[in-house]
Amino acid sequence: MQVFGVDVGGSGVKGAPVNLETGALAAERLRIPTPQPSTPDAVTDAIVEIVHTSDWNGPVGITIPGVVRAGVIETAANIDDGWVGIDAASMLSHRLGMPVTVLNDADAAGLAEAKYGAAAGIDGVVILLTFGTGIGSAYLHDGRLIPNTELGHLIFHRQKAELYAAGRLVKRGELEMDWWASRVDEFLAYVEELFWPDLFVFGGGISKRFETYSHHFTTKARIVPAVLRNQAGIVGAAFAASIRSET
Ligand code: BGC
Repeated sequence: MQVFGVDVGGSGVKGAPVNLETGALAAERLRIPTPQPSTPDAVTDAIVEIVHTSDWNGPVGITIPGVVRAGVIETAANIDDGWVGIDAASMLSHRLGMPVTVLNDADAAGLAEAKYGAAAGIDGVVILLTFGTGIGSAYLHDGRLIPNTELGHLIFHRQKAELYAAGRLVKRGELEMDWWASRVDEFLAYVEELFWPDLFVFGGGISKRFETYSHHFTTKARIVPAVLRNQAGIVGAAFAASIRSET
């Protein structure tokens, strides 16, 4: 079975059909730079263009980098404020004429890693953190997602943790990799003290280079890089939409 997944990120809107037996993309991934400002209208146009260009007609899963409850966007730290209060699931399903499931981007990555990747078959508590434009989190217990945890918004050193340790600080040259990694380690220690996970999964674009900085990490729990890398959002969105269309 295939379902279409779309990942709306700070820099790109990406989409592809996903083979749900394997978790692999079933066709080439299409990408459009995230419109600036990233208003609901502009981002919706980008999503519609990606889905139509792919000749897709069927269920679609879409990630948004904010809290999503029952399809409604509740926060928008890294996307235009105009999204707050919008019933994105209804709006997008109306525009596409297809059933749409909307969920948080890190939650989608967590679902994908739990089903097909680094956390597959792992019982207990798994926390996936994505280090990109912000810090996203997914909290899983025995493979089941507890959505919208927003651990990147924990106050740490008198600011939101995602301002202190997001991957973008390295990408923009504001922080050297080693300094960044030791900040991340401090943050991981804090998260560990509160949640005691059995496993951390380290995600986001910067997880590609995990081996170059992971020696800074001192967590008690095992920490592994995400396996699906920058496809986790697309795959998790498609998977979430498939669970919904079964029920
Ligand atoms: C948002 C989260 C999102 C994360 C990663 C944070 O600023 O509040 O909802 O998952 O960025 O995109």
